[in-house]
Amino acid sequence: MKMHELTIRRPDDWHLHVRDGAMLKAVVPCTAAQFGRAIIMPNLLPPVTTVAQANSYRKRIIDALPRGHRFQPLMTAYLTDGTDPQELQRGHAAGVFAAVKLYPAGATTNSASGLSDITKARAALEVMQKIGLPLLVHGEVTDPSVDIFDREAVFIDRVMIPLRRNFPELKIVFEHVTTRQAVEYVQTAGRRTAATITAHHLMINRNAIFQGGIRPHMYCLPIAKREEHRLALRKAATSGPGNFFLGTDSAPHPQNTKETACGCAGVFTAVTAIELYAQVFDEDNALANLESFASLNGPAFYGLKPNADSITLVRSPRHVPEYLATDTGQPVVNFKGGEMLDWSLKTA
Ligand code: DOR
Ligand code: ZN
Repeated sequence: MKMHELTIRRPDDWHLHVRDGAMLKAVVPCTAAQFGRAIIMPNLLPPVTTVAQANSYRKRIIDALPRGHRFQPLMTAYLTDGTDPQELQRGHAAGVFAAVKLYPAGATTNSASGLSDITKARAALEVMQKIGLPLLVHGEVTDPSVDIFDREAVFIDRVMIPLRRNFPELKIVFEHVTTRQAVEYVQTAGRRTAATITAHHLMINRNAIFQGGIRPHMYCLPIAKREEHRLALRKAATSGPGNFFLGTDSAPHPQNTKETACGCAGVFTAVTAIELYAQVFDEDNALANLESFASLNGPAFYGLKPNADSITLVRSPRHVPEYLATDTGQPVVNFKGGEMLDWSLKTA
């Protein structure tokens, strides 16, 4: 029999971009309406590298919440060649830094200040391993001779495996995995290695970027891969308890910066995030495992309690609006905008 209603612990988003200023004000309420917590990416300009910066960014996020919301932003520090391990330790002790983000320099949006080489972070990683501060990894090599569709798989061999060997106790999240190789790697790398999976990588393969013409709103990094990889991701996500959990990587860009000769990378899913995931799990007859993926596996890995409250999804048509309006002068185009989904979040 088909399920018509599903109540699960309130989910969390373990990988989210909310930007700053007018964009932040537009997107934060979308996430807060669905999720209890979110790991906030630090790739602002300039990046969030200090406890003071993270604290004031956190405050700007809280100020953007609708009245009465209990949404909790979990802040991250941006790892650079010059990161002071003491600053990470201070931020962790103060309860400000929930994790540290590694962008290889030049890998993606606002990654220019990222690590030029993993060896530059040795002292920071030693401290993080010692205090239990997780490392979140954008897992793509930046070597221009490596094909864009192979950058994640090559990263496993060149960076992940040696990193894991050198820091066996470090908690590592392989962010937004997009390949069968990354799924298999995480499945065999032990309990201190986890991965987030986006809704869009569960829904599209690389054909979507070129369907009938070039589709800038389907372009993100890591770029969507072949169908076999999407199927591997779906299997991992819907598999129940374990080390795969929800991270939307929702990445808002003003419409005119996507629809241009050199468009920004990022897919914006925040408006209907949990409904997109529900669609995927339903299609794979795995709704019974949505709670593990969305609400339980993440807190377990981070050593946090699941949220105390719950959400209810109902099988009733959900129209995805085309745009989210913002005061930036440009709207943001929603992933699947104009389409219908099968599940709707019940509002209290
Ligand atoms: O597509 C992406 N957009 N990938 C990233 O890693 C960064 C993100 C952004 O900040 O826009
Ligand atoms: Zn991201």
